[in-house]
Amino acid sequence: MEGNYLLISDLDGTLLGDDDALENFSQWHDANRDVVRLVYNSGRFFDSVVDVVEQTALPEPDAVIGGVGTQIRQYPEGTRLLNGWPADAARWERDVIAAELRRYHQLEAQPDEFQAEFKLSYYAHDLDREFLDRLAAHLAAAGQQVQIIYSSARDLDVLPAGVDKGTAATQLANHWNYEPWQVLVSGDTGNDEAMFAQGFRGIVVANAHNDLKKLVAPPIYHAQASFAAGVQEGVEFWLAAAT
Ligand code: GLC
Repeated sequence: MEGNYLLISDLDGTLLGDDDALENFSQWHDANRDVVRLVYNSGRFFDSVVDVVEQTALPEPDAVIGGVGTQIRQYPEGTRLLNGWPADAARWERDVIAAELRRYHQLEAQPDEFQAEFKLSYYAHDLDREFLDRLAAHLAAAGQQVQIIYSSARDLDVLPAGVDKGTAATQLANHWNYEPWQVLVSGDTGNDEAMFAQGFRGIVVANAHNDLKKLVAPPIYHAQASFAAGVQEGVEFWLAAAT
């Protein structure tokens, strides 16, 4: 196994957001790439992750989890890393779900480039828990088994049940034979929350949204620093804790 640790990090608002901090992170990663293997776990699809790696100081990762957990791809080839993922899409009828959700004026479909076979995404501002529960109940009554993820008080993703950034991260960590304590996850908003429910070591950056800041369940490290500097601070914390 290459690397004793696996860092699985969100991009926008986590590693991305402060260019100087990212430059430092990149240098730190160059010096530590034998110890820490890197995976990006983003709401963006694979191609968009490739673009942003090429355009910024982001180091090249070993793999990419894209589309909020719906894609697990080798980098840079883009080939699928795991067969049969998403695994359990038996009660996922995309057209039925889209038609049911068209009834809600609160939901505005995101542009086509953000939609995929296993991801339906909307813009919807300031939804509350009750509304989200109502949506879930509505889709269940329509025979659909879905996972609803709400981020940044703006983005609503509807995915097959059992699929999210957390379960995808677990699939990949298992595939590469990492124990949960060897896996560090970092994020800033709602779609990252699932990564903190997998028994991994968590890092919440200082600029995170409240939905993550309020997480107290161990093992989660709340960084003092924001963006890439917060990720680096958290990784250093966890590596020091292990020695
Ligand atoms: C990214 C995706 C968008 C999704 C959001 C939250 O911005 O492009 O489709 O809704 O992440 O997961």
